[in-house]
Amino acid sequence: MNIICVDFVFNIFLGPTSISLDFSLPGVEHVYGIPEHADDLKLKTTDGGDPYRLYNLDVFQYELYNPMALYGSIPVMLAHNTQRTMGIFWLNAAETWVDINFVQGSSEKPQTDIRWISESGIIDVFIMLGPKPSDVFSQYASLTGTQSFPPLASLGYHQCRWNYNDQEDVKSVDQGFDQHDIPYDFIWLDIEHADGKRYFTWDPHKFSQPKEMLQGLMDKRRKMVAIVDPHIKVDSGYKIHSEITSKDFYVKNKDGRNYEGWCWPGNSGYPDFTIPEMRAWWASMFAYDQYEGSMENLFTWNDMNEPSVFNGPEVTMHKDALHGKWEHREIHNIYGLYVQMATAEGQIQRSGGVERPFVLTRAFFAGSQRFGAVWTGDNAAEWGHLKISIPMCLSLGLVGVSFCGADIGGFFKNPSTELLVRWYQTGAYQPFFRAHAHLDTTRREPWLFGPENTALIREVIRQRYALLPYWYQLFFQAYRTGMPVMRPLWVDYPKDTATFTIDDEFLIGSDLLVHPVTEEGSLLYPPHNLKWFRRSSACMENDPYTLYVALSPKKFAEGKLYIDDGHSFNYDAKKEFIHRSLTFANNKILSYITMKMTSMSEIIWHANLLILSQTGKETPVDFEFDSSMSVLTLRKPGMNAGDDWTLLLQ
Ligand code: GLC
Repeated sequence: MNIICVDFVFNIFLGPTSISLDFSLPGVEHVYGIPEHADDLKLKTTDGGDPYRLYNLDVFQYELYNPMALYGSIPVMLAHNTQRTMGIFWLNAAETWVDINFVQGSSEKPQTDIRWISESGIIDVFIMLGPKPSDVFSQYASLTGTQSFPPLASLGYHQCRWNYNDQEDVKSVDQGFDQHDIPYDFIWLDIEHADGKRYFTWDPHKFSQPKEMLQGLMDKRRKMVAIVDPHIKVDSGYKIHSEITSKDFYVKNKDGRNYEGWCWPGNSGYPDFTIPEMRAWWASMFAYDQYEGSMENLFTWNDMNEPSVFNGPEVTMHKDALHGKWEHREIHNIYGLYVQMATAEGQIQRSGGVERPFVLTRAFFAGSQRFGAVWTGDNAAEWGHLKISIPMCLSLGLVGVSFCGADIGGFFKNPSTELLVRWYQTGAYQPFFRAHAHLDTTRREPWLFGPENTALIREVIRQRYALLPYWYQLFFQAYRTGMPVMRPLWVDYPKDTATFTIDDEFLIGSDLLVHPVTEEGSLLYPPHNLKWFRRSSACMENDPYTLYVALSPKKFAEGKLYIDDGHSFNYDAKKEFIHRSLTFANNKILSYITMKMTSMSEIIWHANLLILSQTGKETPVDFEFDSSMSVLTLRKPGMNAGDDWTLLLQ
């Protein structure tokens, strides 16, 4: 037994009730998780202050190092010491508060006391016993699922702003990337692209030929994301509104009429995404014949799904609004998850179940990892916001959501050039890599800050593309096992107490240590000018792989390689993928199948210095050795990434 479930059922009343449970964790000094907060990775004592609050809210200009609620809520806490990692999953979607106290327990043992309080619902708690960090991740994944396996292209670079003004603007930004030799995969359209903020439509003047625009991108093997928010303009001439009304799918007031609130389009209704039939209908709206102007390279961004109600209490929905017989207060924190779930389902269905979806969400709950990516909302162009993006994404990764990123450059305000460059250098090493900016900011495409800065940004975006096979392989692991892609150091070094509070550096997988510069005035490094370049990830599909082997003091190294078509479910449905392990030991590099070991046809490299031979056939191999750096480079050895081979250094 490695998960304990505690389940108390109470009668459901309308109106606020309250439930609470205390936990004492003897021997524990370090607790993590319960995102989303703009705070340190290691949770702080709340003694004498406000508890951490979990209540999905559209927060205007959020404060840093503060336990205030933000856009998403995952009621999962991890506790870690040198002996054990364990987790507590408080399965409750109502407003929740978490108090944390570090105390000296019996016989001088440190102890952490935690109090969970929810406004309503039942006590339904899972205790994940570990003992290793990877055990807790897989135990939690067995309850809520793993990170969806994203299309490879979505791990590339995303260019967004509120807003690209019209089709011409999209075209010129797209060309700008080519002119400046910078790869990107997705260009994004914000709310101004739609006709009067009626989602699923296009502004007839600015975006009159959406298919032509999408085809132009497709010709370059690039993609687009358009925003589809869950507030629906109350307008009898708008198909989406009239269908939801006729099917009676809107959330209701406490007096039974359709709930209405103010959002981007003006007066809006809020579809009840807790109804399965509503979600199925919403999904059907993504079919190519329903969503006019859409094509297979158009993907979706779900924003404002806390839900945001400009004239509601705390800018959200009234707690006594009704979802069938359930009050909104009972389900508030899971509303946003259902929006993303229905949207992802729509994208899968439009392709007849073949293609993987890509959906970005702002609001989330436990399990949201199954439906796509998350970003940290409306940050600001300030150094503090760059720095906090690291613990914010690390906290999400610990509780299942690996596909996380922050708006590069900062959403509000204009970044200094130095901050923008540093943000690119940080964001390129975070899972979701997207630049975004508020409507009122000045334009900030990567080439607008002089040739030196363009070169720095180009360099780091290219570094991201050079590492795409590594990111992709890690996402495959996250999908299969629940291991976070971006991790705190203690996950891989669980006995090293010095790592327990580090949150300005982190690991990507277990092999890449990242310590971005998040302070103003640090020395800038000159660009390396990577020679390799492609326009987008799709253009890389036939490129050779470069294998970097960094040896441990014992002259050992290991790694993995995962390859598939990059976009469909065939890796699952037809088992069409290559998954190989690579090890270096005893002066040999071996490549073999991870999932299923087969007999190894040996290709041996030997003598004089290096020769490739296969069953007697020998071929000389081009190599270079840099003795000052101890780096041996073998060029184009002609091995197939999908075959078994052995490389022998003599
Ligand atoms: C919200 C989003 C932001 C978006 C804006 C307009 O503020 O967080 O990213 O640009 O709405 O849609």
